[in-house]
Amino acid sequence: MKSILVIDDEKSIRDMLRAGLTQYGYNFYDAGDGKNGVEVYKRTRPDIVLTDVKMPEMSGLELTRQLKAIEIDSDIVIMTGYGSEELVIEALRSGATNYIKKPISLNELFNILDGIILNRERRRKSEVIKDVVVFEKKKLVIDNEISRIWGIINQMLFNIPNEVSDTNLEGIRLGLYEIILNAIEHGNLGISYEEKSESIQNNRYLDLLESRSMQPDRKQKRVFIDCTIDHMGLSVEIRDQGGGFDFHEFAEPESREEILRAHGRGIFLASLYFDRIEYTEPGNTVTVSKQFQ
Ligand SMILES: Nc1ncnc2c1ncn2[C@@H]1O[C@H](COP(=O)(O)OP(=O)(O)OP(=O)(O)O)[C@@H](O)[C@H]1O
Ligand SMILES: [Mg+2]
Repeated sequence: MKSILVIDDEKSIRDMLRAGLTQYGYNFYDAGDGKNGVEVYKRTRPDIVLTDVKMPEMSGLELTRQLKAIEIDSDIVIMTGYGSEELVIEALRSGATNYIKKPISLNELFNILDGIILNRERRRKSEVIKDVVVFEKKKLVIDNEISRIWGIINQMLFNIPNEVSDTNLEGIRLGLYEIILNAIEHGNLGISYEEKSESIQNNRYLDLLESRSMQPDRKQKRVFIDCTIDHMGLSVEIRDQGGGFDFHEFAEPESREEILRAHGRGIFLASLYFDRIEYTEPGNTVTVSKQFQ
């Protein structure tokens, strides 16, 4: 059941609101001043707090600040009369959800409250708690759309523990990007090292990608990703439906020029970001792993 806490120093207003809101289906709590209001709030945790802005002892602004400090998700509606505009604006800046002018029209109030309740339900439904996953195994099957790789990586790494440093996480992301890109362009779309270099030189690389991904036999190929995450680390197997390649020479480039060349760096970069990168014959499956320490 939805609940509301009304804080106002005028008893007649509390009584009027009690009658209206109870009838409208609310569990009703009230308090005659801010200090008491905070106490009742802590005890009852209502969905909504409806508070007067001008009260002796504690203003609605100060009350808003205190309630927000207790519960960032609290919804506070400020009741305002003439001459308290400044306080209301400050309260809204401090996190109050909405305001309503006195004398209060119950219908207007119900309308505001309905909106808040709806929004609270929406928030609850989409709420996710991160950082509770001790072990996660995920399988993803993806098509050959390169523009979707980052979104897929975000999806894979969604539950990565919060302790993983930003630098490590960024490395993992970049490394996965290179490997998944390879699975798509070289594996599934069958673009060779030479074709890639040449098409990049002639500024035709995007055309090449597009025409390859239209070919019926290539179009249906998929990349299979097996991702395992626990608090110790991450391990990802990436398999494409291409013919593989001779992977032995790529992990250890022989010279700096090779590293600095416009392409041919993907595997090398990935091998810097991960602790291990291991290809399986014939080269269309690769497993990368990283300890979080
Ligand atoms: N999954 C794969 N299937 C087939 N060949 C692959 C695969 N992954 C890599 N290769 C081969 O290894 C080569 C090197 O890959 P690497 O990612 O290091 O460089 P690149 O993809 O050519 O260029 P870039 O620096 O843009 O990544 C590729 O050109 C390709 O020939
Ligand atoms: Mg590459």
